[in-house]
Amino acid sequence: MISLKGKNFLVTGASSGIGAATGAQLLAHGANVFGVTRRPNALHPDISPIEANLTSREEISAIFKNLGKIDGLINCAGTAYLSRIVDGNPADWEEMWRVNVLALTLCCQYSLKHFPQGGGRIVNVSSMSGHRVPPSGGFYAPTKFAVRAITDSLRSELKAIQSPIQVACVSPGFVDTPLLENYFRGREEALSKTRENMNMLKPEDVAHSILTILTAPAHVEIGDILMRSSDQIA
Ligand SMILES: NC(=O)c1ccc[n+]([C@@H]2O[C@H](COP(=O)([O-])OP(=O)(O)OC[C@H]3O[C@@H](n4cnc5c(N)ncnc54)[C@H](OP(=O)(O)O)[C@@H]3O)[C@@H](O)[C@H]2O)c1
Repeated sequence: MISLKGKNFLVTGASSGIGAATGAQLLAHGANVFGVTRRPNALHPDISPIEANLTSREEISAIFKNLGKIDGLINCAGTAYLSRIVDGNPADWEEMWRVNVLALTLCCQYSLKHFPQGGGRIVNVSSMSGHRVPPSGGFYAPTKFAVRAITDSLRSELKAIQSPIQVACVSPGFVDTPLLENYFRGREEALSKTRENMNMLKPEDVAHSILTILTAPAHVEIGDILMRSSDQIA
């Protein structure tokens, strides 16, 4: 197992849900955490804040200006609207594309220069909606398919240049976080029913899988962890 003690991690979306739980577990392992958010006050007090709106390429680039060496990047930031292809609002599609796909990809690219020679690990949060399109997948599911494809492309490219940096994704089903309130906006009853019928994953469950990837022995490269509540059917 690789020790995380004293290592540096950049976590996007560190203010809430899966990113916040990941930041807390990294801190508990003695790591230093730099957290990207639009709301620095929402971060755990021991996380070093980096304020950025991930819809802006300039602000994404600025994240890396004063960043030193990092041993890992965890791309947790994401946004979800139930926005159908037939009649969804293109502004929602654009925001999801910018945050879930473009920002994640730019953070991957910009982070590469910050890894030490011995490498490190990148973990991208995809979704079960990046593996099969649920009926309500709309434009969100395509962004999560893209996360998986970007992760695989980056892995191949890194191997082609003999880079020791590893890249993986985590693909959870329903996780009980504020993101669901956004996704179910206007369908609050459906969210209540889902919560009643399912003991959803907790952000900590996903964070645990992320730490499994980060601490796996150096010769072990995890590609993706698919996980869902034992109550979730597909
Ligand atoms: N919850 C689920 O059921 C579920 C299932 C599968 C996958 N996922 C994925 O898991 C990841 C984390 O989601 P979560 O459920 O933990 O959601 P969450 O609790 O709503 O957290 C979302 C995070 O993304 C950040 N973010 C969103 N838009 C941003 C922007 N424009 N600029 C900077 N930061 C931004 C938020 O930071 P600020 O608002 O502080 O800026 C927040 O920290 C997402 O990629 C999501 O797609 C979630």
